[in-house]
Amino acid sequence: MKVAPTIEELRTNLKSHHADNQLIGFVPTMGALHEGHLALVDKAKESSDTTVVSIFINPLQFNNAQDFSTYPQTLESDLELLEKRGVDVVFLPSKEELYPMQPSLSINFGPLERTLEGEFRPGHFSGVGIIVSKLLNIVKPHVAYFGQKDLQQVAVIQTLVRDLSIDVKIQVVPTVRESDGLAMSSRNLRLTTQERKAARLLYQVLNFCKIELLAGRDWLTTRQEALQMIRHESLASMEYLELVSTYSLQKQEKFEPEQALSLVIACFIGEVRLIDNLPVNL
Ligand code: PAF
Repeated sequence: MKVAPTIEELRTNLKSHHADNQLIGFVPTMGALHEGHLALVDKAKESSDTTVVSIFINPLQFNNAQDFSTYPQTLESDLELLEKRGVDVVFLPSKEELYPMQPSLSINFGPLERTLEGEFRPGHFSGVGIIVSKLLNIVKPHVAYFGQKDLQQVAVIQTLVRDLSIDVKIQVVPTVRESDGLAMSSRNLRLTTQERKAARLLYQVLNFCKIELLAGRDWLTTRQEALQMIRHESLASMEYLELVSTYSLQKQEKFEPEQALSLVIACFIGEVRLIDNLPVNL
């Protein structure tokens, strides 16, 4: 496994792969890798000749300085995991090289920007859009892999690729969960034992809502009951629980079985902000 700490080294490493027309699969990450990331790596390995993973904690997508400074960093074990998984190249760029100065560009994703994560984390998606554009420009993969856990991020990246005609296929990989249903996330590392137990609540709430909706209950009543479940957990503090269109992420007031809809949740457990989602009808 090659480790490329600069853009030039990455490009040199990939030159012959590009020249031989090898299929390059790319998994961008912020490190603190878990089975969710490794599922993306496995998918990339399955269908690519060369698999590239980047690790970069992108300051531009954090609207909260504390969230940025406490984001888990586990570089040594990340590299071990990637080596074991058979990754070909790991790109480890520095902040100085990627952002020699504060970018003057910002990206507005329209209605996607004003709902859910966009509402609670102003500027977040612009930061994601800028770093993903940069990484796709540098790596030039044929396919890039993203987790369904970040449903709105997937929609943002699909918009980016479509609107800028970037020559890459975006492949979405299903969420990987712990045995009690908690979606895998690097932020789970920051939960205390008690908070970790309480964190199951997110998936329980999503499942409760899904079962109720599929049984014909209306969304507004179901939502009220779900909010009540969350109020009973003293470690939990809700940001949003919504029924949304799976592709546009716009909020829905009614469950329409013939539309592709998903339930989305963002909730603090203690100091840790967690998000999750569940498709209601595929
Ligand atoms: O999903 C993530 O880990 C990040 O948002 C990404 C796509 C690597 C961009 O920094």
